[in-house]
Amino acid sequence: MARINPITSLVVFLSLSLFHISFASAAAIQFRTALAPRQSPAATPATPVALPVSCADYSRIANLSTIALNSTLRAAFLRSSPLGTFPAVAILDADVPKLMDLMFDVTLNQQCGNSSAIAIVEADRNLTAGTVAGMKIRDAPGVAPDDLSLPILTVFLMIITVVPSVML
Ligand SMILES: *[C@@H]1O[C@H](CO)[C@@H](O)[C@H](O)[C@H]1NC(C)=O
Ligand SMILES: *[C@@H]1O[C@H](CO)[C@@H](O)[C@H](O)[C@H]1NC(C)=O
Ligand SMILES: *[C@@H]1O[C@H](CO)[C@@H](O)[C@H](O)[C@H]1NC(C)=O
Ligand SMILES: *[C@@H]1O[C@H](CO)[C@@H](O)[C@H](O)[C@H]1NC(C)=O
Repeated sequence: MARINPITSLVVFLSLSLFHISFASAAAIQFRTALAPRQSPAATPATPVALPVSCADYSRIANLSTIALNSTLRAAFLRSSPLGTFPAVAILDADVPKLMDLMFDVTLNQQCGNSSAIAIVEADRNLTAGTVAGMKIRDAPGVAPDDLSLPILTVFLMIITVVPSVML
């Protein structure tokens, strides 16, 4: 029976250990590579981050608060609302304090788009088109100096009253 040479057994032992180490580190690398995509932020687009309000609520708050905070839009809203002035003021002002936080919430504005910026542009466009918050802007002579309907009506009345007398 062959005697086991201590040197040989040491060599066998060391090479087994080395094999084990290299196997273990190969496995560790594989494990890390398998984990890597899951840990990288780019590969996880849908990490649910709690939003302070839903995108729909943010949009509604931004639209109403934009009207509440601008004197031109506010006056147009108040004289056009079918509600009385006090309920209309309450609706407008209810969410204004919330807008300040929401407007600068980076996560919310990334997920929903910047509804505050959109509301400012769109409210102006609506005003030009004669609506505020989806309501037709009512005429209130003396309240809206840039309201075109009064000058147009005046010119029209002048034409129908003056023209026949000139033609006679
Ligand atoms: C807010 O205004 C924008 C732009 O006009 C519109 O697209 C959006 O539907 C409005 N949001 C709500 C909740 O009415
Ligand atoms: C959203 O838009 C408003 C108005 O343009 C701006 O003041 C605010 O900084 C914007 N918010 C973010 C988070 O970029
Ligand atoms: C108020 O809104 C009107 C119409 O959108 C705009 O022309 C005006 O610059 C706004 N005023 C302020 C102080 O933001
Ligand atoms: C603009 O007008 C549309 C239609 O009237 C309305 O749905 C929208 O909410 C208005 N946008 C703003 C910012 O007031």
